[in-house]
Amino acid sequence: MNDLIEFDSKRQVFHLHNRNISYIFSVEEGGTLCHLYFGRRVQKYHGELKYPRVDRGFSGNLPGSLDRTFSRDTLPKEYSGAGEMDYHTPATIVRQENGSNSLMLKYKNYKIEDGKPKLEGLPAAYVENEKEAQTLTITLEDELTGLEYDLLYTVYRDVSIITRSVKVRNTGKKTVFLEKVASLQLDFVDRDFDSICLPGAHANERHLERSSVGYGIQKFGSIRGTSSHQMNPFLALADRKTDEFSGDVYGFAFAYSGNHSFEVEKDQLDQTHLVIGINDYNFSWKLDAGSEFQTPEVLMTYSDQGLNKMSQAFHEIIRERIVRSKFKHADRPILVNNWEATYFDFNEEKLKTIVDEAENLGIEMFVLDDGWFGHRNDDNSSLGDWTVYKEKFPSGLGHFADYVHEKGLKFGLWFEPEMISYDSELYRKHPEYLMQVPGRRPSPSRNQYVLDLTRKEVIDDLFGQISKVLKEGSVDYVKWDMNRHLSDVYSASLPKDRQGEVYHRYVLGLYELMERVTSAFPDVLFEGCSGGGGRFDAGFAYYMPQIWTSDNTDAVSRLTIQYGTSLVYPISMTTAHVSAIPNHQTGRKTSFETRGNAAMSAVFGYELDLTKMSQEDKDQVKEQVACYKEIRKLIQYGNFYRLKSPVETNQAAWMFVSDDKRDVCVMTFQVLAFAQPCLTKTKLFGLDPELEYENLETHEIFGGDELMELGFYDPIVHQDYTSKMYRFKGI
Ligand code: GLA
Repeated sequence: MNDLIEFDSKRQVFHLHNRNISYIFSVEEGGTLCHLYFGRRVQKYHGELKYPRVDRGFSGNLPGSLDRTFSRDTLPKEYSGAGEMDYHTPATIVRQENGSNSLMLKYKNYKIEDGKPKLEGLPAAYVENEKEAQTLTITLEDELTGLEYDLLYTVYRDVSIITRSVKVRNTGKKTVFLEKVASLQLDFVDRDFDSICLPGAHANERHLERSSVGYGIQKFGSIRGTSSHQMNPFLALADRKTDEFSGDVYGFAFAYSGNHSFEVEKDQLDQTHLVIGINDYNFSWKLDAGSEFQTPEVLMTYSDQGLNKMSQAFHEIIRERIVRSKFKHADRPILVNNWEATYFDFNEEKLKTIVDEAENLGIEMFVLDDGWFGHRNDDNSSLGDWTVYKEKFPSGLGHFADYVHEKGLKFGLWFEPEMISYDSELYRKHPEYLMQVPGRRPSPSRNQYVLDLTRKEVIDDLFGQISKVLKEGSVDYVKWDMNRHLSDVYSASLPKDRQGEVYHRYVLGLYELMERVTSAFPDVLFEGCSGGGGRFDAGFAYYMPQIWTSDNTDAVSRLTIQYGTSLVYPISMTTAHVSAIPNHQTGRKTSFETRGNAAMSAVFGYELDLTKMSQEDKDQVKEQVACYKEIRKLIQYGNFYRLKSPVETNQAAWMFVSDDKRDVCVMTFQVLAFAQPCLTKTKLFGLDPELEYENLETHEIFGGDELMELGFYDPIVHQDYTSKMYRFKGI
């Protein structure tokens, strides 16, 4: 039964819907797919919304038609090729044998099926049973070239998400070059939008930026070979008045870890045109006759209740239907990582003292970070040599891992598989594995270079090395890092007319490697990382359920970073550690409590030398660890609401509520203190208005409606960087 996708053959209208949302488009003149509606659920479409036909100057008409009122330039569409009398930024550009790049995509047919097909070699949302989603495949064709475009739309039954991707098939006789293939195009009429994006930098990721969409084309994206710290693969288009709790917003997250682009164009008629996909920078895919190309997938949602509801749809789809790991719903261990504790300056004996202290404090896992392999004493050598550094671990890694395990802790290990140092055995043996342009010296970054993951032998080599260590060390957890971006993008293993494929093939190679490693070691918990949160995207979550959010561990910086991150990514994916003061990135001194509350707002851990702490701090660690164990389920898997924005105010506040609305944890933060402070309140959200709640610290009783409507006053504290955790229980 097609209960999520209907086709009205008389009106030629497709209607995708679930309980909350509807997405509607039709087939119109010249086989053009016309976008009609995306928004709150409507029961039925009767045809009233047909786009008015108007004769517009300088917007041409269909070839062979005398109808001046129909133009592909003005009609809101589902997918546009270059040269089809549409002057917007195209969704696809194809260079053909005769040099032309013009297409004329026309509707050919459709198919509706239960469930959702897998995307070969790519991360994507999945279904656990065929009934929870339906997929519509619309095929468009270009008669001249024989190219066929399958537009794939999957609508989920219980979460307000539609996924979109495109598969291109060359059914013609000649080779073509895909110069651009977007995964999604979406056109809006009659909307004045703000765009919301997540730009940043290393140690300064995902700062929510909101601006109004003006005329022209604005492109948000990355050409760094990864999804990047600089611009996360996410964009929202919100009505001007939309806030966290009310108003319309459309959200788009790209499940891809390479170059991406989000193009937003406001046109001559104030219509908004959105195109999302792999960035066309240095992209050119040779598509021989008979072959296919599958784009990565966009997750798209619509919320009529502001940004929080948008985030919840993303959190749910990523947590429940992108993450595949067996740790998907598991309590994530509280860890201590030795990076900020020791950097490269450690040996087994030194680490054992940290492990001992971790055991005393109730910490559950020890993570051995960079510097355990090759002969690595700084960041100038050994990447590529995943063999234990005998000087630091004379009896081998397994020996140290046994010690950690005997203490009752899990053992985690850092890798940076995609990289190579000149000073490495791997480079001496296989200089050709390093990605570089013939005749040019490649650019170093952190004195390291990128491996050519488009080559199968490189993937095999890495898989072999990593597997060996994971087995020998009985490793429970892996931190998978990447500490530079791509440059000198060229593969000696590909011919010249395929060099435009290298960026994407690199990502496909990475996905293949991660697929092999994670499926060979299903009991290992994997954490993604790229100099902190440089590859924090929904694609990565398909392989690794959690990601190191930022190299910046300063609690105040983390407020904006974690706030922005939560716009798209679930808390179970977001990791945060308490580190020493003065903070190593900012020099700021914040209290143990504030650092704890910021880090306990995510998947929690420590990153400092536990042996160098005062007894008072150790006592606080004990308390935090005990507290986090109590609230861990709620934090990691509860419903998350942002209450106050650190971007807009001097405060931040957010909360976690269990599904039954009985368990509540609220974190509030005040950045600077003022001599004559204005009174501020925190009002809660998402509670049961009829239920009474007890404040577990003061034992005061409040109605759920009271906490939401009246809220409570924030404490006045004459000190910078303060924070408070509140816990409530429904009674
Ligand atoms: C990156 C990571 C850090 C740490 C270092 C080690 O910067 O984000 O957490 O692992 O690498 O070199």
